[in-house]
Amino acid sequence: RLRPARLHLDVDRLVHPAEQPITDKLYSGFLEHLGRCIYGGIVDSPKHPSPKDLLLPQDIGDLATKGRLGWRKDVMGCLAKDGELQIPMMRWPGGNFVSNYHWQDGIGPISQRPKRIELAWLSDESNIFGTDEFIDYCRGLECEPYICLNMGTGTLEEALAWLEYCNGTGDTHWAELRRKNTGRKEPHAVKYWGLGNEMWGPWQVGNMLPSDYARKARRWAHALKLVDPTIQLVSCGETGASEWDREVIQALLPLADMHSIHYYAPGLEYEKNVFGAAAAEKHIDVCKSLIDMANIGRALERMPGKDMKICFDEWNVWDDVKARGTNGLEQTYDYTDMLGFCAWLNVLVRKHKDIGIACLAQSVNVISPLMTRPDGILRQTLYYPLALFSKYMKNGHLLQLPSFPDVYTGPTYPVYIQQGEYRPSYIDSVAVMVKTSNGCSIRLSILNRHPTADWEVKIGFSGFNIEKVQLHEIYSDDLAAVNTFETPSAVVPAVFNLDNKEWQSKHVDKLAVKKHSWMFLIF
Ligand code: AHR
Repeated sequence: RLRPARLHLDVDRLVHPAEQPITDKLYSGFLEHLGRCIYGGIVDSPKHPSPKDLLLPQDIGDLATKGRLGWRKDVMGCLAKDGELQIPMMRWPGGNFVSNYHWQDGIGPISQRPKRIELAWLSDESNIFGTDEFIDYCRGLECEPYICLNMGTGTLEEALAWLEYCNGTGDTHWAELRRKNTGRKEPHAVKYWGLGNEMWGPWQVGNMLPSDYARKARRWAHALKLVDPTIQLVSCGETGASEWDREVIQALLPLADMHSIHYYAPGLEYEKNVFGAAAAEKHIDVCKSLIDMANIGRALERMPGKDMKICFDEWNVWDDVKARGTNGLEQTYDYTDMLGFCAWLNVLVRKHKDIGIACLAQSVNVISPLMTRPDGILRQTLYYPLALFSKYMKNGHLLQLPSFPDVYTGPTYPVYIQQGEYRPSYIDSVAVMVKTSNGCSIRLSILNRHPTADWEVKIGFSGFNIEKVQLHEIYSDDLAAVNTFETPSAVVPAVFNLDNKEWQSKHVDKLAVKKHSWMFLIF
């Protein structure tokens, strides 16, 4: 058994009392032209037309003026603002794909758009889904678009034209072309732009040295802000804890508004999986220190600093063995992956002060909680914790929690910490207080990562009266359990609604958190 603990939730003991509330942008999404993410996930695949329930119009070229028409209604229903996942922002078009994507191939009449080979995933790109379709899709979801620029084979001139095409309000060439293509006067108003994707990666067309990237990105940033000074630029980082990150942050701090980092927790063995997000937590801390150092350097030179936030624009559990192959990174996520994923969600909330945006990679079919088949969708194991966090863990403040003494003492490989040894606790928890019209509500996530030991916790409150409690528990004996189209509810939360009396009688002295399980409570 793990040592029992007492959790005292005091609504006056906030971790960051002076900070902004937790941003909903922690639950942003990501669509890449990869596998069946766009074609098959967002729109029906023209190669494999679906028998029913799919809204592919005769002429897909009219999508831009048909609003919601043409999209898979079921997927959109999950991602939309009024859906289960409530995606507030969507990143597009990659990922690695963007490093040889030429946006002008994806505008105008569909029948005239060129089909290209693309070098990231070595497939063909039809260009059926382009900028106007992406903006339409975001409008349909009621989410904010975030576009990543091609700094691989793309030129600065192309990037400037893309920005002008999206945001131009004058009677200039690119703005007029947008009006002609979309039939609408108003600009796309894309505020967030990424300065390239993983430009350090040897698999990338970019494959640059940090100093080369920094010089190029500074030039691009300066020019882009001349076209539209209101945009927010995101510099391209690595894991947040690397020499690349140090050099790029140093050089881009005056010009970029956020610094992008990517990390995927490996998920084959149990420990690697459930403790994988601990590495991301360390990377966030190191990255924040690099930003602080760059600010200190500028202060010493009497130059203005900047509260540069981290843009964690690719994160997830991703296991190479489970997801690679010919299936376009379609990973089946099992019960253990779900535990690792809950640790990720806890990390993002705990570190929200330093994170401006976090995009789950990816939103559908490709390493995703949400899968499609022509006849329907499947919510994988990860889907349910994501939906609960996305709905409840925002617009609130972190509450102080004690530390939990039982720590993992096995080999340190699972956490991939470059900066020395790190011992995460088996119990991982975050609590958030959200102000409501009649007081406040408390949301509590508790993850027990121990493979064999249960845990008991006594929960107390200060400054808060319980009226009712909703408790979601995900537990399976089988660590490899998965949801499938045939058995879609193998791993779903059990939900218990309790009034104060029931809570007092059943749980006030002892909430039992089973071995390898996750609980989410709304008070
Ligand atoms: O999300 C899949 C891939 O992972 C992205 O294309 C790339 O940026 C990352 O390496």
